[in-house]
Amino acid sequence: MRVTVYNCREFDEKELFERFGRELNIELVLCPDAPDQENAALAKGSECIDIITSKMTEDLLRVFADYGVKYVTTRTIGYDHVDVKAAKALGMTVANAPYGPCGVADYAVMLILMTIRKMKRILERTNIQDYTLKGIQGRELKDLTVGVIGTGRIGRTVLKDLSGFGCRLIAYDLYENEDVKAQGVHYVTLEEMWQQADVITLHAPLTDENHHMINKETISKMKDGVMIVNTARGGLIDSEALISGIESGKIGGAGLDVVENEFGLYYYDRKSDILNNRELAILRGFPNVTVSHHMAFYTDECVETVVRDSLLGCRYFVEGKENPWEVR
Ligand code: NAI
Repeated sequence: MRVTVYNCREFDEKELFERFGRELNIELVLCPDAPDQENAALAKGSECIDIITSKMTEDLLRVFADYGVKYVTTRTIGYDHVDVKAAKALGMTVANAPYGPCGVADYAVMLILMTIRKMKRILERTNIQDYTLKGIQGRELKDLTVGVIGTGRIGRTVLKDLSGFGCRLIAYDLYENEDVKAQGVHYVTLEEMWQQADVITLHAPLTDENHHMINKETISKMKDGVMIVNTARGGLIDSEALISGIESGKIGGAGLDVVENEFGLYYYDRKSDILNNRELAILRGFPNVTVSHHMAFYTDECVETVVRDSLLGCRYFVEGKENPWEVR
């Protein structure tokens, strides 16, 4: 069997692909670029393609389907970049490759701490030998209420990690989790979340229902000086509303590992380019907003897991076995 891998990174993934390809007896076509109409031809003869967070629209999926591709696996947890409905209509199976939640949870906790301690300002000052204190006084977690939206694998790990800091923890999810409740965390309604949380950290997938769940109206209900951390998906926050909230001072700071319209930017060297994402430029410029380029996942353990499990899923699919990573 053959798998065509897109966005294969030379410096960290290539060797792993070669190793697991050998172990699973899979012939690989490794392409460094994102899948598009032109390089789709590389998938001729492959039943499966292996991608990351590039947009798989209906049009692009159809091109792959025409080349005989029946299985699309994404080396990510989120799969909102794949038009799953269109893939199903084309007779294709979509799968993801979840890895342990600790890497993203660590990162979210780090962004929370960086945000409440004004670390961006501190680092900028130290770098230019400005050792003054005015404007960089922080807050302590034990004095704050932290609200976690989405208590799945990552949200639950964040709650567990934060429990050691002595802060008050509240949570919101469509489905309440017994382990979370047993930990003494209170589930609240979204209205209560906006009213009570000093820090809000997002860990829900992006869906049609929660697109822009943080918007002008919901921000107006939040506490003054609220801090927002997003390691989930950019589309959960209306960037314009976030910018206005920061400008007015309603929002006291943000830590954003993901932003809207990050497709085509992240993981490329675009330093000499004029970018078409004004929101990102504005957000990056604020002294109280830390932006990183969708990095929360990026640990040794995660890279190895996604390469291995994405290929293993291909094997299961081709052999008609039960596939735990299939998106249903
Ligand atoms: P999960 O599937 O274990 O948990 C998601 C939770 O969100 C579930 O409990 C679900 O009931 C809840 N949920 C769904 N819709 C909701 C809504 N409208 N409001 C509130 N809760 C809702 O997923 P996991 O592994 O915890 O990942 C969460 C998200 O983190 C992923 O969907 C992905 O978008 C993002 N992520 C970001 C990464 C990064 O590098 N920044 C890496 C990995 C994941």
